[in-house]
Amino acid sequence: MRADRPAHDDDGQSVSLWMAETEPRRAPRLEGAIEVDVCVVGAGIAGLSTAYCAACEGLSVVVVDDGAVAGGQTKRTTAHLSSAIDDHFTAIERVHGVAGARAAGASHAAAIDRIESIVADEHIDCAFERVDGYLCLAGDATPDWLDRELAAARRAGLEVEIARRSPVATLEGPCLRFPRQAQLHPLRYAAGLADAAERRGARIFGATHVDAIEPRADGRIRVASHASGAHVDARFAVVATNAPIHERVAVHTKQVPHRTYAMAFALPAGAIPRALYWDTLDPYHYVRIHPGEREDVLVSGGEDHRIGALTAGAAAERYERLEDWTRRHFPVIEAERYRWSGEVLETIDGLAFIGPTPSGPANLLMASGDSGMGMTHGTIAGILLTDLVLGRENPWARWYDPARRPLAAAPHYVSDTVETALAYGEWLKLVEGDPHALAPNTGGVFGWGIHRRAIYCDPDGKLHVRSAVCPHLGGLVGWNDAEKTWDCPCHGSRFDRYGRVVQGPANADLDDVS
Ligand SMILES: Cc1cc2nc3c(=O)[nH]c(=O)nc-3n(C[C@H](O)[C@H](O)[C@H](O)COP(=O)(O)OP(=O)(O)OC[C@H]3O[C@@H](n4cnc5c(N)ncnc54)[C@H](O)[C@@H]3O)c2cc1C
Ligand code: FES
Repeated sequence: MRADRPAHDDDGQSVSLWMAETEPRRAPRLEGAIEVDVCVVGAGIAGLSTAYCAACEGLSVVVVDDGAVAGGQTKRTTAHLSSAIDDHFTAIERVHGVAGARAAGASHAAAIDRIESIVADEHIDCAFERVDGYLCLAGDATPDWLDRELAAARRAGLEVEIARRSPVATLEGPCLRFPRQAQLHPLRYAAGLADAAERRGARIFGATHVDAIEPRADGRIRVASHASGAHVDARFAVVATNAPIHERVAVHTKQVPHRTYAMAFALPAGAIPRALYWDTLDPYHYVRIHPGEREDVLVSGGEDHRIGALTAGAAAERYERLEDWTRRHFPVIEAERYRWSGEVLETIDGLAFIGPTPSGPANLLMASGDSGMGMTHGTIAGILLTDLVLGRENPWARWYDPARRPLAAAPHYVSDTVETALAYGEWLKLVEGDPHALAPNTGGVFGWGIHRRAIYCDPDGKLHVRSAVCPHLGGLVGWNDAEKTWDCPCHGSRFDRYGRVVQGPANADLDDVS
């Protein structure tokens, strides 16, 4: 593992609205050896929420990240805080029954409440605001479907009503209105949460790549960075690296990496009522309004696809479709301000994986499977994992257990496994061509015999050659032209243009074969 490795916050070239507005909050590098109650790996929403909740209980806490605070997917979110499950309650109920759907609705609502109280108690200036959410009928979904979703959401305990239309005239048709949803500025919230955790005694370290998480003979877990020679021995370790870096198979076969796209447009102040808007298309679209001083900003997202499912250059087409959809439904928007993309992990049954690591000891905890609702799932992780550390009963624990394998999700499991197997099939394709024909600042995978090479042509025309074989479980990476990264279609690992890992589950670079 090289010492000059990039941080995970170097995970793509696009810049989100929040990144453009906020200086990254950096933390000092971990040095020496530390002993604590809880060591959290990853300073995204899940890791910071866990650190804060644990510190509030008087536990000694260390957070270790290899980049800045919230430098992973949290800086790319659109930060809808919602108890209206994006996979829809009809689907959640089908897999988990009414009790499971109730647990899902209650836990996301509790997460929003918790964020609201943290913002108030800790005086975090992050534009937190309660807003309504509107699920608007579109595409093939019929009014019947909306009725069924209304009934399922009510059975799940949500306050929800049907409305003839949303407050936006151009979003035609009936919709469901979910009151008491919320939104905030994610990077300002994350920085405030980190400050508040530190005030309660938590210590946060950055620029420290964790490459070993191992149970010790005395029952504690050692979290170590060999590059810096530092380690933390903890009664409990929480791996909150978005895609778990310590668990090779059990969880990764139950979640599928998707790329999602977001765009921000100038909007005359007050032109659109502040609310969360979602449609029922597949892939769906999500919209919110971020209040500004002179102008508002409309943030629109969607056009998701499974990683690796697009051919080169097609990301541009996704942005085009997103812009087209947004301008059609919100014609009042003005110039584009930002566009960015990120990765979400869709689980086979719509709920995150929060709890003990399936193959590990009971004190090796994890949070993953954000399912596009990672801001609330990350907050649920804070509440739930702290209960587990304290040995307290938690009513949601069984629904989020990473070891679960709900039978009703089996068809999803099978089709996702088949798709992953097809991604491995890329190996068999003969990749012909001359790497010297690559345009500057682009990359491609080339094959010679049994070898597959990921070759990047830098702006000066110099070729950088790496093995195209993902060090996680041997998938073949593909070039992501929108972010200038190498992405693995199997479980979502990503590498920068020079092959250095920027997103798990892989925790090592592409082999240098030059
Ligand atoms: C475009 C987009 C829109 C979204 N919109 C929404 C939304 O509206 N609402 C919602 O709820 N969710 C949304 N999501 C999902 C949500 O933003 C994410 O699920 C959530 O931010 C993930 O948080 P996390 O803490 O799990 O991971 P991350 O924020 O990725 O944090 C993981 C951390 O682990 C660190 N790390 C990783 N490996 C190591 C290592 N080996 N050593 C040390 N540190 C390591 C990384 O540096 C990173 O800081 C969206 C996501 C995207 C991309
Ligand atoms: S991410 Fe698992 S093989 Fe690449």
